[in-house]
Amino acid sequence: MLPQMKRERSEQASRISALRQAAQSAVDYLESLDTRPVAPGPESVAAMRALCGPLPEGKTDPAEVVRLLSELGGPASMAISSGRFFGFVIGGCLPAAMAASWLVSTWDQNAGLWVATPVGAALEETAVEWTRELLGLPEGTAGGVVTGATLANFTALAAARHRLLERLGWDVEADGLFGAPELKVVVGDEAHPSLLKSLAILGLGKKRVVRVPVDRQGRMRADALPHLDDRTILCLQAGNVNSGAFDPAAAICPAARSAGAWIHVDGAFGLWAAASPKYSHLVKGFEQADSWATDAHKWPNIGYDCGLALVRDHAALRAAMSLRAAYLERTEHREPSDYTPELSRRARGVELWAGLRQLGKAGMAEIVERTCVHARRFAEGLRTAGFEVLNEVVLNQVLVSFGTAEKTSRVIARLQSEGTCWCGPTVWQGKTAMRISVSSWVTTEEDVERSLAVMLRFAKESSG
Ligand SMILES: Cc1ncc(COP(=O)(O)O)c(C=O)c1O
Repeated sequence: MLPQMKRERSEQASRISALRQAAQSAVDYLESLDTRPVAPGPESVAAMRALCGPLPEGKTDPAEVVRLLSELGGPASMAISSGRFFGFVIGGCLPAAMAASWLVSTWDQNAGLWVATPVGAALEETAVEWTRELLGLPEGTAGGVVTGATLANFTALAAARHRLLERLGWDVEADGLFGAPELKVVVGDEAHPSLLKSLAILGLGKKRVVRVPVDRQGRMRADALPHLDDRTILCLQAGNVNSGAFDPAAAICPAARSAGAWIHVDGAFGLWAAASPKYSHLVKGFEQADSWATDAHKWPNIGYDCGLALVRDHAALRAAMSLRAAYLERTEHREPSDYTPELSRRARGVELWAGLRQLGKAGMAEIVERTCVHARRFAEGLRTAGFEVLNEVVLNQVLVSFGTAEKTSRVIARLQSEGTCWCGPTVWQGKTAMRISVSSWVTTEEDVERSLAVMLRFAKESSG
């Protein structure tokens, strides 16, 4: 055998043994989820520190690296893929998306250009189109696949900034914002901080926005909107991170459109209600907007990281995002980097394609409906036991107060350390609350009953 061939064989063997170790470790991890605590215990977190020492002088066998990671890293992870993680609005990764993510890593594709990955570019385009259809957005809407809703807000708002300033005779990509005509940005008082961060990065300012008051559920008040015109970016929200409430798009959008304003929707999770005939009434009116930001790593359970920026005006999105260089060969196909801030990036569109292909339209509707039923069961169980549910449970979000702020915080801390389930805190309209966000495809009725029983026990045992 030629020496060159020998080397290739051993490189190939090391890749395969690392992957086999990862497959076995992943299976062991999934099998541990029913019996391990959702949050890692302090001993596991302490043991994990062994991975954080100085960089060794010598090499380590790749399979041994994976074994170490699995042995010391796995137990220190939060069991977000269990059915009893109810924190933030996350949890769950569909099997097809999870496995596709391994394949994508094995393929090592760079999703910037068609020429670098025909499969990555084509499946991303298909997945964007499937998403557009599931969300009930206008035909012809363009989209980019980014890391999450924060970047999706940023990307869509960059397109808005481009178009509004272009209409005023200003080329913002070429000349920046120094001396540019002023734009007005209108947001609800309950806008997610990531939307404000995106505005800040775009030079539109977090503080100089016009904030519209909201009602008891956190919905923008249509009767309190300021004057809107063609220099205005109006940011609506579909799905409040705490209450799950939707801004009244149907009441707001027609007049905003006639005024020439650019309407942007932060629909990180709420927009997916469109996929269910039972919940699609909640998103009525949002389809009239110009741009939408959403997450596929939230309700569709695609795994991290995956968000989408969708924009009706293709040319505005491309003008804000695309870049050219002689060495970046272009084709007659859609070039993925024309639609996102990044040039090089992982082919996360393939994972999105795989997850949506697994679900089909019926599967996506089922996730929405099942998780909303679970949320209502939590709310009913807590209310029946005498605890105050602070929001109208219109979606998959429940806010509960167990009494005083101190008592609610004590119950949350005890739940988190006991490990049956995991919920986080928030403050809702001045009141400390526990957030229950049911987002995972894997959560069963039994998970809900087990978690509810522990919540009620700790709340009853806690004084105050
Ligand atoms: C309404 C809303 N917008 C934006 C975000 C930010 O999403 P991401 O963390 O994926 O960037 C969230 C996260 O929960 C959200 O609920």
